[in-house]
Amino acid sequence: MNIEGLRATAGAMVAAGKGLLAMDESNASCNARFEKVGIPQTEEARRAYRELILTTPDLGSFISGVILYDETIRQSRKDSTSFLKVITDAGIIPGIKVDTGAKDMAGHPGEKITEGLDGLRYRLAEYSKMGARFAKWRAVITIGDGIPSRGCIEANAHALARYAALCQEVGLVPIVEPEVIMDGNDTIETCFKATEKVLQCVFSQLYIQRVSLEGMILKPNMVLPGKDCPVRAAVEDTADATVTCLLRVVPAAVPGVAFLSGGQPFDLASARLNAMNVRFKGRMPWALTFSYSRAIQQPALELWKGEDANAVPAQKSLYHRARCNGAARNGQYNAGMEKH
Ligand code: 13P
Repeated sequence: MNIEGLRATAGAMVAAGKGLLAMDESNASCNARFEKVGIPQTEEARRAYRELILTTPDLGSFISGVILYDETIRQSRKDSTSFLKVITDAGIIPGIKVDTGAKDMAGHPGEKITEGLDGLRYRLAEYSKMGARFAKWRAVITIGDGIPSRGCIEANAHALARYAALCQEVGLVPIVEPEVIMDGNDTIETCFKATEKVLQCVFSQLYIQRVSLEGMILKPNMVLPGKDCPVRAAVEDTADATVTCLLRVVPAAVPGVAFLSGGQPFDLASARLNAMNVRFKGRMPWALTFSYSRAIQQPALELWKGEDANAVPAQKSLYHRARCNGAARNGQYNAGMEKH
């Protein structure tokens, strides 16, 4: 295993002032988002949308890497320049989502297990040959009555660790994403306990599977009250809960933590990341940044609506969200930046 190569890639992925843009929605998820804003759900519309994102001027100033989906990594600009060339020419690192989705878990009502380990070694080798330098695998953990169960947490953590080991074997940095879903009415304390338990198990499995912590990135949820929880939390409280939880369970050898946005309002996703980097400055052993999909893309998608004429405002909006989050990565974001 080339640890130095993995370490260098991981370091570049969480460089100061930058973070990751997740644009790895499966065709089904991308179509569902298109449908909501009246965009046709076709391969060409998905290609055009990804071209719009990837050709945003100066995106590489704030985006270190992009996470692609299998369809997208094989696509090209209208002028037939491959997306992989567009990405690398922009100084951005290409990555690829490699799990095949979270499915209902047998014997565990209400819980999911992520699939995709069969044949993964060969798929990773192909992606690596194409030019991908990192990968992503997402596990889904649901909070509810008597869940998450031990069976669900352990099975997902084991799969994440086996995926991560296979990635490192071919020189791809694994993004390890155990997402505790924030959709219910659970409190911030419940989310804290579930996140702590899940991460503790994930790092135990990573150790057992001999994953090099220096050559990986953790992509966790923030510790937040569920979307329907009547007790809201101040930005500072979510920042304190999240970093306190991470400090307990994420080893110092991990170079970076890059949060998912999980459907948070986009300005809050920036404000919360910023508050963590301000309040814990100099007290965190890892870089703390973003790996957002909706919190970067959603306003741009709503402006674009599938029309060429809206491409420039949509790209400006995408650039703006990337810039706000790049500032938050450094603890330099403020609400005034939203008045652009
Ligand atoms: P969101 O930021 O929209 O939660 O998506 C991040 C992601 O990559 C989910 O796997």
